[in-house]
Amino acid sequence: MYNRSADGMESTILGGDEVSSNVEWCSATTHPLPDDAAHALITDPPYYDAVPYSYLSDFFYVWLRRSLEKIHSDIFTEPQVPKDAEIIVDRPHELSNSTKNIAFYEKELTKAFADGSRILHPNGIGTIVFASKTTSSWEAILKAVVDAGWIITGSWPIDTEMETRVAAQGQARLASSVHLVCRPRENPDGTLREDIGDWRDVLQELPQRIHEWMPRLAAEGVVGADAIFACLGPALEIFSRYSSVEKASGELVTLKEYLEYVWAAVSKEALSMIFSGADATGFEEDARLTAMWFWTLSTGSTDNTNDSSEIETEDEDDEESSSKSSKTTGYVLEFDAARKIAQGLGAHLGNLNRLVEFKGDKARLLPVSERTHYLFGKDEAQAPTKRKKKDVKQLSLFDIAGSNEDEDNDWGEKNLPQLGNTTLDRIHQSMILFAAGRSEALKRFLVEEGAGGDQRFWRLAQALSALYPNGTDEKRWVDGVLARKKGLGF
Ligand SMILES: C[S@@+](CC[C@H](N)C(=O)[O-])C[C@H]1O[C@@H](n2cnc3c(N)ncnc32)[C@H](O)[C@@H]1O
Repeated sequence: MYNRSADGMESTILGGDEVSSNVEWCSATTHPLPDDAAHALITDPPYYDAVPYSYLSDFFYVWLRRSLEKIHSDIFTEPQVPKDAEIIVDRPHELSNSTKNIAFYEKELTKAFADGSRILHPNGIGTIVFASKTTSSWEAILKAVVDAGWIITGSWPIDTEMETRVAAQGQARLASSVHLVCRPRENPDGTLREDIGDWRDVLQELPQRIHEWMPRLAAEGVVGADAIFACLGPALEIFSRYSSVEKASGELVTLKEYLEYVWAAVSKEALSMIFSGADATGFEEDARLTAMWFWTLSTGSTDNTNDSSEIETEDEDDEESSSKSSKTTGYVLEFDAARKIAQGLGAHLGNLNRLVEFKGDKARLLPVSERTHYLFGKDEAQAPTKRKKKDVKQLSLFDIAGSNEDEDNDWGEKNLPQLGNTTLDRIHQSMILFAAGRSEALKRFLVEEGAGGDQRFWRLAQALSALYPNGTDEKRWVDGVLARKKGLGF
């Protein structure tokens, strides 16, 4: 049973007892509670430009208003959902000439967090739920939290998203919402603590903290993009315990600058986990980036059964054409995430245009099939497309070979490819030879040409086998190459 009295008190029956509460409607920037009144504050703030809540709510609001206006006359005063106080990034569109840009979002969100901190007791605890997948929205919310005078003390990913919704994103997907745990940066008397941090101390503590957290998260099944964002809490605790952080020169360190170091520390730690503690610096930049790319896209299913369809993204901008034919294959990350990962690994995206393609705000790691031309030369790459067998399903993904069991296929028979420049190139060449069913050529490439003589070749191939999603051609091909290792005496 539920009651609402004229003074706004709500009561409900829970376990036989009547429990009362008070529900009020306000903007989060101007909370009605007095200072230090609350012991817990839980908020799920708007995510940047992800959802235009008030416009979407109008669809329901107009009907709710018709039926409930007389009962809750104080709530349904406006004919439509109020728009002005809504904290979102909303670029002008045909329904509005909104001026809610990033600066507005950050400013209002900081106000909301500051008011949250005001009403919270100095010993109180705050929980902020955030499930956005773009690095810029993360940076915006973290800036608002820190600027509003909170110390972030932890961050935990909790599964909140439906599988279908998650998969529908078609790129680095968050399976969970990250819950940031915060405390007001206050003295016991409620005044703000004003401590200045030393940049060197902060930088020294950061890698240690990430080194402790990543294995802990992995043990809980949290990997990939979820783990990256889940590391932000512990990383931010180091920075946010100070009102400001200064370099020896006295220059202030911005949160943006610190976050670059955080992405780098997370990338390095993830890489050392991918290669089981081995020194990943022995691998060239393309290998480091590829491994990290797949790890970021992984969703932590322990049996590695990610559906390969998740990594083929439909052309979202043009549904009509995508329904006809335009499937993009490859592994897509937000450009900014790719840039940050690359930077953290000391890889230069500018050198890797044979491996990564950029389009708008997306970066696509090319599937091996699309690298054939580069790895084998013009003649070899083109010939097999004429040999397509219609009944072989994988051809829709990969046009280089008729069948990977088809020993008669003379594709690329003329010459072996020149050994690729990097370990990753040589693995991809081997995978293509395997896919083309060129067993003898693969043997010669590995033994006589010497591709298999380098232990890094097998270590990287092993890592890729663990990282490629199950059910993909690439996983099958790299496993096919690995299966030759013992027999060839490596
Ligand atoms: C991520 S959603 C929260 C969803 C909610 N946890 C749920 O499961 O329904 C963010 C919410 O913040 C609300 N919001 C936006 N600006 C606000 C403001 N100034 N004050 C209070 N709420 C606001 C939006 O209307 C939206 O409902």
